Amino acid sequence: MPRLVVVSNRVAIPDPTGKGSAGGLAVALKEAFQAYQGLWFGWSGRVSSHPSPEPKMVDKGNVHYALMDLAPIDRQEYYNGFANRALWPNMHYRLGLSEFSRADYAGYLRVNRSFANALGQMIRPDDLIWVHDYHLIPLAAELRALGVTNRIGYFHHIPWPAPEVFGTLPGSRELLRAIADYDLVGVQTDLDADNLRRAIVQEVGATQQGVELTTANGHQTRVKGFPIGIDVKGFQQLARRPPTHRIVKQTLASLVSRNLIIGVDRLDYSKGIPERMEAFERFLVANPDQRGHVTFLQIAPTSRSEVPEYVSLSRATSETLGRINGSLGEPGWVPIHYVTTAYPRSVLANLYRIARVGLVTPMRDGMNLVAKEYVAAQDPEDPGVLVLSKFAGAAQQLTDALIVNPNDKFEVAEAIRDAIHMDRDERKERWRRMMKAIQDYDVSWWAASFLKDLSDYRGMSKVRS
Ligand code: G6P
Repeated sequence: MPRLVVVSNRVAIPDPTGKGSAGGLAVALKEAFQAYQGLWFGWSGRVSSHPSPEPKMVDKGNVHYALMDLAPIDRQEYYNGFANRALWPNMHYRLGLSEFSRADYAGYLRVNRSFANALGQMIRPDDLIWVHDYHLIPLAAELRALGVTNRIGYFHHIPWPAPEVFGTLPGSRELLRAIADYDLVGVQTDLDADNLRRAIVQEVGATQQGVELTTANGHQTRVKGFPIGIDVKGFQQLARRPPTHRIVKQTLASLVSRNLIIGVDRLDYSKGIPERMEAFERFLVANPDQRGHVTFLQIAPTSRSEVPEYVSLSRATSETLGRINGSLGEPGWVPIHYVTTAYPRSVLANLYRIARVGLVTPMRDGMNLVAKEYVAAQDPEDPGVLVLSKFAGAAQQLTDALIVNPNDKFEVAEAIRDAIHMDRDERKERWRRMMKAIQDYDVSWWAASFLKDLSDYRGMSKVRS
């Protein structure tokens, strides 16, 4: 049986207590690791002044974890710098926030090379290698340079922007050349796939036949959409459990008979959190009868707090929150509850089920699994309503949500009003169709179809000359 080698920047080792909140990728790969023997390689999350060039090995179940520490300069240049200050904003269409530095880019390439050097020694001839996300775009090129001819797939979890946008990033052509060294590239939507294929054709001079691209050295790569899903049954079970956690009980008690609107996101400017608060403010201004009858709970765990743009966002969000609660709140009612703590999945599942409205309004998002989890968590007899940004990948599948443009707070405010007033028959009908969409394309479908495509690859995995 071939081994599955997963590579990602963050590696989620199962929590022995089972209490922690498992990372999204760990949940997504759980089944794949039951079907294959597994090796998961990536950053340990630790910084050390003299990191070893060899990974530290940890065995859990049938998965071996190979963990690399980073030097402080590597963390700064590779993770905070190029990945999160240049690539991330560019790929989320925020060119004004994209900060390119040559030193950061060199650090990004250097870490990818050192990961390839460490991983290359562990690869067996039959291994299927599956690399994840924008931190590791050059990894296949580095492995090929070492003589690795295995099938290597890449899944890009965030949007792939239009070629005109990606092309503004210095180094973009080199990254496109590197991505063409993968045998299979998966992206979230057909639009992302189209953007990436166009860029590879324009910038690398590849020829295209359908989803297949052939570069000048004869290497073939396929670029296709594989919308990531969730473990629908597992999440439904979590949501159905009676609420026992203190946080859920407190939320229920504080609501009294008010409707709950919920938003759950990492504190990231791509998620549109202050914009969403302003849309909720607009809703309260336009619908004064709703004041005191609805509470918006925004859960936004702090993220990437060493990156200056995230520090500014945190400040701006708190200011917006304070202004709205100060101007519209009353002694017995706080319009927006805002917490920056990460809650366990079981707590989120309970909260989604209680919430009459799920407000998922990113300015841009690869997929957005909160939208899918919100749907899965609902009570079929009395489901809530999903308000969803047209710029989330999930909007391609969840067409029965109330689809909004997050740049228009009036439109979002109207959608909140419609969601609050929607009758039960319409809610049930919309929910039923959304549920079918997330069941048809759940996480097992995602992992199995990507891995099948990668295993079936019959092109030539060329070693770079
Ligand atoms: C996004 C990315 C992931 C990343 C996650 C959390 O979902 O696609 O690759 O792990 O954000 O960000 P962080 O910087 O904390 O890893």
